Order: sequence, then structure tokens, then C-alpha cells
Amino acid sequence: MHKPIYLDYAATTPIAPEVINAMTNCMGIDTAFGNPHSTTHSYGLEAASIVEKARHRFAKLINAYDSEIIYTSGATEANNLGLQGIAFGHQSKGKHIISSQTEHKAVLDVLKFLEQQGFEVTYLRVNAQGLIDLNELTAALRPDTILTSIMMVNNETGVIQDIKKIAQIIHTHGSLLHVDGAQALGKIKIDVKDLDADLMSCSAHKIYGPKGIGALYIRSKYQVNLRPIMYGGAQEQRLRPGTLATFLIEGFTRATELVHQDLDTETQRILELKKNLWDGLKNLPNTRLNSDFSASIPHICNVTFENIDPESFLLSIENKIAIAQGSACNSAHMEPSHVLRAMGLSTKAADHSFRFSFGRYTTNKDIETTLAAISSYFSSPTSH
Ligand SMILES: Cc1ncc(COP(=O)(O)O)c(C=O)c1O
Repeated sequence: MHKPIYLDYAATTPIAPEVINAMTNCMGIDTAFGNPHSTTHSYGLEAASIVEKARHRFAKLINAYDSEIIYTSGATEANNLGLQGIAFGHQSKGKHIISSQTEHKAVLDVLKFLEQQGFEVTYLRVNAQGLIDLNELTAALRPDTILTSIMMVNNETGVIQDIKKIAQIIHTHGSLLHVDGAQALGKIKIDVKDLDADLMSCSAHKIYGPKGIGALYIRSKYQVNLRPIMYGGAQEQRLRPGTLATFLIEGFTRATELVHQDLDTETQRILELKKNLWDGLKNLPNTRLNSDFSASIPHICNVTFENIDPESFLLSIENKIAIAQGSACNSAHMEPSHVLRAMGLSTKAADHSFRFSFGRYTTNKDIETTLAAISSYFSSPTSH
């Protein structure tokens, strides 16, 4: 079957063969399939040993302690545990939270829920590049502010917030910082101690690992104050009950190791792909780049084609390239991107914006084919 070129790596990635291999070693009858919480026999002990070794390898890669890693089903659950856990655990100190208008729904919807529970949330605006203003952050902090949640890399534009500086401001104030790191892990070297984040959400399926696994990093000294959002067992320090999935945890770790092996060379290679794509697009009429080269990761290229008809455009390219309009994660609701709107784009411009995201298997030839598909649309009568 002919498949279009996949340019939606920010939505998800295929699982790397090495990761599949690592996972199969913890699945079948002849492997470490045991329940890692069964401590009375070797099956359980073998699985527990794999989980704890994987936790150690993962923690080391982001410069955390093993006990600071809590496994979850992905970044959405990690965001829920981090935000609700801190909000309900610290509410005696205050009920004010700060975030930004351009967070993923996996943060915004949790904040909406917390607002219904009596918390007050300040949503920081962003500039035309999608960056928050650190002076506005400082001004928004109040005596009752308990938590700030800012994503490291935006999933629609790839813009990178200055987490280190944000952490300095938050810690001078004396409150906590949660970082949604779902799009940052594997694309930027993450050292949680250097960043000084208190909590960070991660996901495996954005980095060639399996879907259904992620982690919440929680700086040890605050762990005690986090309230669980689920009950049912003593696993994960009582913060996340349920049997741990040995194969997913092993797969997540192997995937994290692989992305770190060639992080610098791969980032450079992907930057060339983005440059080539943009070089081929920039002279098309009324075309604008929403992912500034200096402010964003190279893996994402968000472009507005002001003059086109979005439906006929998507129809004309759908057999050739797979890209996202707005945020793929929100595609169940076709509303103009809240991220691009917050950056100052009109509803129409947001509707006419597309995200090209690249990854391990994207080649220069793929970019050439993409450019050919797009210019063929632009030269067709339907585009006018
Ligand atoms: C920035 C960001 N946060 C959270 C999520 C949700 O991650 P998961 O699919 O692991 O729940 C995504 C996924 O698209 C994301 O891009």
C-alpha cells in the first residue's frame, strides 16, 4: 500500500526496532513477564530488577535520582498528577496557579478543572514568537501562588521557553515550577538539576518509544506534599498505583538512550531539513513561518499559507504527505489553533497554518517530494 511521507513526528513517532526488541524481552513466557510487585518468586524479582535498572538508566539521562521518577501512562497523566497533586497537596498555602495561554490541552484542561475546584489561574500571554514575557511572569506572582506550569517546547510551533530563567524567578518567589517536557525530551538535552524544575512531564511515544508510558519527574524534597490522583496500591511511592508495565518501561528507557546517543548530530541533520523545506516554501505567495529558526527546535516547522483554501490544499496533498493542521492532538475539535491565535494570528491565518514535523526517518528526498507536492498545488487552478 502506498503511504504518504510522514511529517507528523510531533504527534507521535514509530517505535524504533531496538526498542521493540528490548520490549519483547519482557513479554512472553520465556522472558521477564512477571509482575514486578510479586516478591515471592523469581519471575517477579526478575521483572522488578528490569524496572529498577530501567528507572536508574532513565533517571541518569536526565540527571535525576531514581526515586524522583514516577511512571505514568504518558505526559497527559503526568501533567494531571503534577498539577492536581501539587494543587491539592499545597492548597493550604494558596490557591493561585500561573500558566501560559499556549500550553497543551493536557495542561489547560487540568487547569480548567482546578478552576472549577476553586483555584484561580493566571494565563500569561505570549509574544509573536510564542514566548512568555518574564516581567509579566514576575508581576503575576502573588503571595498565594503555589505553582507555575510552563511547557519547555511548544507542540505546534516548537518554540523553546527559557525554563532556567523561569525557574529562577519562581524559586526567588518561593513557589514550585512544573514543566511539560513532552516535546523537549530527546530533542534538547535535559538536565533537571541544571534546569531547576520541580516537576517535569515526559512521554515515550514522541521519542520512538511505545505509546502508553511516560513519567513525572518530581524533585525529592517536594514529593511528600504531592497528593495522588488515583488510589489502589502502594506502587510508585503511593503516588501512582497499579502494576507497572515492565516492557513499556524498558522500551521507554531504551528509546531515551537511543535519542541521546546522537542528539547533536541528529539535531544538526534535522535543522538542514527544516532549512531546505523553508527555502523551498518562503517564496510562495503570502507564506509565513511561525516557527522562528532562532527560537524553536528544528523538528517543527509551522507555516501559514495565507492565500490557499485549507480544505482543497489538504485534499491535494493527503496522498503524498502527512502533516498536521493546528495541533494534531486537538484534531477531534477542528477549532483554530489557540497557540497561533495567542501569538497574534487571525482566525483565518490560524486556519491556514500547517505543522510539518520531522524525525529520525525523514530524508532530504522526503523534503523534495513535499516541496513538489506543495508547488503542484500552488500552480493548480484550485489554489486561487
Ligand atoms: C506538549 C505536550 N504535552 C502533553 C502531551 C500529551 O502526551 P501523551 O500523549 O504522552 O499523553 C503532548 C502530546 O501531544 C504534547 O505535545
